[in-house]
Amino acid sequence: MKIIETDNYEEMSRLAADHVEAEVVSCPHLVLGLAAGSTPRRMYEFLGQGYRERGVSYRAVQGFNLDEYYGLSKEHPQSFYQYLTRYLAGGTDFQEENLQVLDALAPDIGKECREFEKKIELAGGIDLQILGLGNTGHIGFNEPDAAFPRHSHCVKLKEETVKANAKYFSGGEVPRYAMTMGVGTIMQARQIIMLVSGKEKAGILKKVLCGQVTPQVPASILQFHRECTVIADSEALSAYHQML
Ligand code: F6R
Repeated sequence: MKIIETDNYEEMSRLAADHVEAEVVSCPHLVLGLAAGSTPRRMYEFLGQGYRERGVSYRAVQGFNLDEYYGLSKEHPQSFYQYLTRYLAGGTDFQEENLQVLDALAPDIGKECREFEKKIELAGGIDLQILGLGNTGHIGFNEPDAAFPRHSHCVKLKEETVKANAKYFSGGEVPRYAMTMGVGTIMQARQIIMLVSGKEKAGILKKVLCGQVTPQVPASILQFHRECTVIADSEALSAYHQML
């Protein structure tokens, strides 16, 4: 795992956007795995800026949503589908029809997950997967468990995750389940960047970077990925530095 430290969130976002842009410029048909959440938001804004100011085009890019809250329709304002149409398709020329999502209302979840995996395979696999890091150590919504879930599936969210997500649902009911790419799906991506910001992620990031590789800290498996770069600000890396 390669670690890049930045001074702050803004610089982390800029660096991540520069990386994504460089990949898209060198391969206009890039297949992207797309995280939502507060961490990559500014990065997506920078992608929009690159499109407007330098004409970096996302027209031929294909995107796969990393995860989605179970039970939310695509139209729900807090769905990750809405997030990506707002931040990626809204800011660039990324085509909404090129965005593949796990349908969180599918009557047959198993079938939906299998078809999603098939679509990734047909696209030739994910070239670049963008990840955030959950407080529980989750990537996608793969929560701590007895084993690393291999394929896309539906998962019960940990209480800590439900609490962390509550801020997006202002008083409304917070989803307790989600559909997510499996850890195996994520690990098959040719390249991964994980963005981490803020001191509240410092403890878990330390475990991810140099703790034991265990399904109790799902992101720790990234230690075994050949092309994984963690772009983190100095607050997020503070606990890691203390132990060095
Ligand atoms: C979102 C996702 C999650 C988040 C994680 C961190 O698509 O897959 O793993 O990346 O929960 O969320 P934020 O960035 O809101 O702290």
